[in-house]
Amino acid sequence: MPHPIALGEGATTAIGQVPGSGTSRSITPRDGPAVLVDRCICRNRSFADLLPEARTCGWDLAALMAATGCGAQCGLCRPYLRRMLATGETVFHELLPVEPA
Ligand code: FES
Repeated sequence: MPHPIALGEGATTAIGQVPGSGTSRSITPRDGPAVLVDRCICRNRSFADLLPEARTCGWDLAALMAATGCGAQCGLCRPYLRRMLATGETVFHELLPVEPA
């Protein structure tokens, strides 16, 4: 079974929600703008939940990973966490390139 977040060229699946459905499922690039990445799947933590904690504690990515484990397992959410910390975004409608471990 593929990981629920697949990133970059050739990605076959992504975690997401079908707008209006209230449910998550794996979606394919064919679903186009329905792609929605909003959490670390490995730790089951939403970015919206993580951001205030990160801001309060003054975490950079390394500190966030050490404190929560998010980004430290499969690492596929790491580029989203990095962008979240830089911009405050917590919902992403694009697949970001995988970062080297
Ligand atoms: S999705 Fe695997 S570490 Fe976040």
